[in-house]
Amino acid sequence: STINDNTAKATNVVKKKLNGYVGFANLPNQVHRKSVKKGFHFVVMAVGESGLGKSTLVNTMFNSRLIPEKEEVPPSTETPQTVAIQNISADIQENGVKLRLTVVDTPGFGDFVNNEESWKPILMDIESRFDSYLAQETRANRTKFVDNRVHACIYFIAPTGHSLRAIDIEFMKKLHTKVNLIPVIAKADTMTEDEIDAFKARILADIAHHNIQIFRPTSDSFDDPETVAENREILSKMPFAVVGSEKEVQTPDGRMVRGRKYPWGVIEVDNEEHNDFVKLRQMLIRTHMEELKEYTNLTLYENYRTAKLLSLGKVQDDSVFREYNPVVQMEEEKRLHETKLQKMEAEMNTVFQQKVQEKEQKLKQSEEELYARHKEMKLALEKQRQDLEEKKKRLETSLRPNTPDRKVKKGFGFK
Ligand code: GTP
Repeated sequence: STINDNTAKATNVVKKKLNGYVGFANLPNQVHRKSVKKGFHFVVMAVGESGLGKSTLVNTMFNSRLIPEKEEVPPSTETPQTVAIQNISADIQENGVKLRLTVVDTPGFGDFVNNEESWKPILMDIESRFDSYLAQETRANRTKFVDNRVHACIYFIAPTGHSLRAIDIEFMKKLHTKVNLIPVIAKADTMTEDEIDAFKARILADIAHHNIQIFRPTSDSFDDPETVAENREILSKMPFAVVGSEKEVQTPDGRMVRGRKYPWGVIEVDNEEHNDFVKLRQMLIRTHMEELKEYTNLTLYENYRTAKLLSLGKVQDDSVFREYNPVVQMEEEKRLHETKLQKMEAEMNTVFQQKVQEKEQKLKQSEEELYARHKEMKLALEKQRQDLEEKKKRLETSLRPNTPDRKVKKGFGFK
């Protein structure tokens, strides 16, 4: 009965106490070490009108001059009247941890007389990154996989103190299902604390009114109280009111800090009491980078992929999609594969027929040989028989007494 009991229990998961160290407690470290070795990759996009401090903020955030200063170019007929997309990649290291950071700068956004479709090149850029990821996913050889999908888009809102402008709403409405949107109030040092609070409320109301989805950290029952509190804190600060500065200034009490100096005092970039820069950086880099990447991969990209594949299924011959059309690509690969199979089959058939012919030839030959040997043997046997017959005759003759044949017969048989 003990055996039966054990068998019955085998399907249940039982909690066991280990008698000694086994080693799987090291699993997180293994994963960690592997990631550290491989390095991390984070793609962040900065969108906003010229002069809102995008470059300054990115440089402040990563503590290095990633985006060089742009020379002042007066608007002329020669300047392109579209939003240019620029990628700036840098490998940065901190305590042995490697991070490849790609900043997508979008100069030109909102700078033209007609800004109605400023969002379009940016949307196209984000989608083309999804497309190239999709194309790689469906390719047979995946060794050189490059993931350049945008994980976060910091959208700079001008510190007007009013409500969101049409261009802001339009942009966010077009992009919110494609990228993690992180709206920030730019140059927050130009507003008072009260103005910022009111502006934040206004922005959140506008966002809700237009059903725009912005990135919000989520907590679940598995999170420890610390994480839950942190997420709540982050949420309470959104949209972050930020100040950027690459320069160090001296505070009235003599400290050197990154900040902006005013006749009435110093705004410190890295001081949480002064602005939300620290919170933004913490969320992006220290606490929610993985969540941003995961949401991009599992939700934003997945939705895009599903919609794309469905639409491609319907419009097979749309040449615009042909280049990146994974369905067409798969069909193409299938067709090639089938042609290859057919060729192989034909080749095998030829070889088979050849072999059969050879075999038949051989069989025929050995049949003839066999026949010849048979004939030969038959002849030999016949000869042997004749010889024996001859011998027998001779023997009989030698055994016979010197009497004529007839007498012998009489003598033996008829007496
Ligand atoms: P483009 O390069 O034209 O796309 O502009 P940008 O958005 O990158 O702005 P950039 O970082 O070049 O900053 C434009 C100007 O604003 C510079 O003179 C900065 O010193 C200044 N600036 C940047 N950040 C802040 C800020 O937080 N507060 C204030 N008051 N000024 C800032």
